[in-house]
Amino acid sequence: DWTMSAYREEMVEAIRRQVGDDKVICALSGGVDSSVAAALIHEAIGENLTCVFVDHGLLRLNEAEEVVGMFRDHMNLRVIHAQEQDLFLGELEGVSDPETKRKIIGKLFIDVFQKYADQIDGARFLAQGTLYPDVIESVSFSGGPSVTIKSHHNVGGLPEKMGLKLVEPLRELFKDEVRALGHELGLPASFIGRHPFPGPGLAIRCPGEITREKLDILRKADAVYIDQIRKHGLYDEIWQAFVAILPVRTVGVMGDGRTYDYACALRAVTSVDGMTADYYPFSHEFLGETATRIINEVKGINRCTYDITSKPPGTIEWE
Ligand code: XMP
Repeated sequence: DWTMSAYREEMVEAIRRQVGDDKVICALSGGVDSSVAAALIHEAIGENLTCVFVDHGLLRLNEAEEVVGMFRDHMNLRVIHAQEQDLFLGELEGVSDPETKRKIIGKLFIDVFQKYADQIDGARFLAQGTLYPDVIESVSFSGGPSVTIKSHHNVGGLPEKMGLKLVEPLRELFKDEVRALGHELGLPASFIGRHPFPGPGLAIRCPGEITREKLDILRKADAVYIDQIRKHGLYDEIWQAFVAILPVRTVGVMGDGRTYDYACALRAVTSVDGMTADYYPFSHEFLGETATRIINEVKGINRCTYDITSKPPGTIEWE
């Protein structure tokens, strides 16, 4: 698409003008926005961009390897893989209140990012994948009544604290344009089309206390669910799909034995922007087949439910 390729060149020039020979750091989450921002800035300044991928131990199955592998090995970006699972999971031990979880993760994320960023000599800029709707939202929120439903996890406040200037090359774009730009920059289609994944990760899909055992079970169940959705060709029709592991064990039978394992909830919604959402109308056949697969393939789960709550009144995530 000629418009996007012209925009790409324009932005590359603009980034070079803004940054000059200075160094830029970027928190790479593996989401579409930060990924496209990183790819674009890399095209503009190459080695002067360093990305930090914070692994908080709340990622999906194989996620860290996939993201780091693609950017570091395939696209040649400088990527630091911050392995901080023990730190995050340690601080989260015994915590079950949703807002407390978010605050702990948000604060640690900033600490960790700062720690790694401090090791990069002479970084002057922080890159962020802020989109146009984010710009609008923060403006209208600051003028209107402040209703915070959930504290959102990002690196807000960090640039000032670290004395960094911001580079936000996607500020004029909507999500579909960011995807087109990602395509233009050569990011794989499977990557560009990925469902959004929240900053606090699996923590907010694990109501109640977070344990390594529950996270492992959740990762496996989620992988089976997404595999089912892909196999049935439904992935691109859905805004977001994931499993939540419930803080309750229930009784079941398997073979000759009684089981006493976790229940899980499957979630899938359609949405335009995440602000409102409808649950996805899977066929009963799909749901039955998926439940059977999860219960057979994932040790630790013996019951599966489907969440048919729309937003509002529910939220997309469980916390
Ligand atoms: P809710 O659960 O509020 O989610 O209906 C709306 C959308 O936002 C995502 N989400 C987050 N994204 N940091 C993020 O980057 C967060 O703290 C966060 N909380 C929710 C959620 O996955 C959905 O797409």
